[in-house]
Amino acid sequence: MTTLAFDVYGTLIDTAGVTTTLSAIVGDKATAFSNLWRQKQLEYTWRYGLMNHYQDFNVCTRQALEFCEEQLDCALSETDRKRLMERYLTLPAFDDVMDGLESLKNAGIKMYAFSNGRPADLATLLDHAEITPFLTGTVSVDPKKTFKPNPVIYQHFVDSCGAPRDECWLVSSNGFDVCGAIATDMKAIWIQRNQSVKFDHWSQKPTKTIDSFSKLKNIFI
Ligand code: 2OP
Repeated sequence: MTTLAFDVYGTLIDTAGVTTTLSAIVGDKATAFSNLWRQKQLEYTWRYGLMNHYQDFNVCTRQALEFCEEQLDCALSETDRKRLMERYLTLPAFDDVMDGLESLKNAGIKMYAFSNGRPADLATLLDHAEITPFLTGTVSVDPKKTFKPNPVIYQHFVDSCGAPRDECWLVSSNGFDVCGAIATDMKAIWIQRNQSVKFDHWSQKPTKTIDSFSKLKNIFI
């Protein structure tokens, strides 16, 4: 039976959703801030992972926020930092997600959220975005104390969902995540919502590429 592992930040949930809150705080630096924040957040997960010095995703997000303040020369008050970190727990789903989830659920496909995020943060985020009722469960990297794309994490998904590896598909807009899954012999779908975002020229290629989450139904139904 097909089992889908949905990446969360950047795939189900739009991290750029923080830009509206940022606009009220840093004005016209909001887009640059949002992009750099996400970039540094991911960089910190890779670095802490390689160092074998796990700091959870919330720590990576908070430290990346503080880096952006300094890099972009816009010091924030502690109240604003708190507001932005709280906003990170109520980010919106991408517009194409609900339609895709409904069709897949109606077809009886098993679906999991699979993320670097902490379990409690993922629960809040997915409840707020009204995604939880569609899911069989959530698999966080946190018990393994490292991050994607460590192969331990993809094995953790396969072990947690109890499905055979060849029935497990990662669904992600994050190219590094797709490469990580393919390298461990999972199948992986890359969602290329924005045609200006290119895939890495690596030997790991997505099993399939689609331009919208809603097109998953064309593959699995
Ligand atoms: C996630 O694991 C990679 O941030 C992405 O949700």
